[in-house]
Amino acid sequence: MDYLILVNKDNNLCINYVPNDLVSCEGTKKETLCKEAYKKFLLLKKDALKNDYDFYINSGFRSGQIQQKVFNHYFIKNFNELKGNFPFDDDERLKREAYIMTTKRVALPGQSEHQTGLAIDIECYYKGNYDEDIADLGEIDWMRDNAHKYGFVLRYPEGKAIITGYNYEPWHYRYIGEEYAYDLTKRNITFEEYHKLVLKKH
Ligand code: DAL
Ligand code: ZN
Repeated sequence: MDYLILVNKDNNLCINYVPNDLVSCEGTKKETLCKEAYKKFLLLKKDALKNDYDFYINSGFRSGQIQQKVFNHYFIKNFNELKGNFPFDDDERLKREAYIMTTKRVALPGQSEHQTGLAIDIECYYKGNYDEDIADLGEIDWMRDNAHKYGFVLRYPEGKAIITGYNYEPWHYRYIGEEYAYDLTKRNITFEEYHKLVLKKH
């Protein structure tokens, strides 16, 4: 897999695509990741442990089929929440609203970079939570300041949904290799912008 591949709402993978260098992630039930990205994650984890920050991988590679399940899960969750708040509203309208909400948080099959095997959703060991609330944790600051040293970049920064297509996800990091990760982080731009401005030939 090309570590610089751009996958988003406009650049899709075939939904049956599976990387050929996936390895199992220790300490998880069934997560896998591309070999190089996992190797670098382990180095990052070791470094973070010096600060007593213990990261593990909540989600690594996701097939197109699993991505559909994740999408459906959040769609139903959003619909039920809306239905709870607006019980007398038309179900079709609520479904449309739930769908739009879901597309801001979860990619459709073929549009998720989790399918590249190069993206990780990190989870902070002792907190165990997995939503925007983790943005206030020291762990998240540490990731923002150090992830590039191991080739990872924050993929969906705050206030950049207009460019990335997704709301802020403090937990989602993408492996692109150290050299590019340093450069992108220094420029403080999104991977979409980086592709357009710097990687024009890719
Ligand atoms: N949450 C990200 C956008 C994904 O589903 O790939
Ligand atoms: Zn993710």
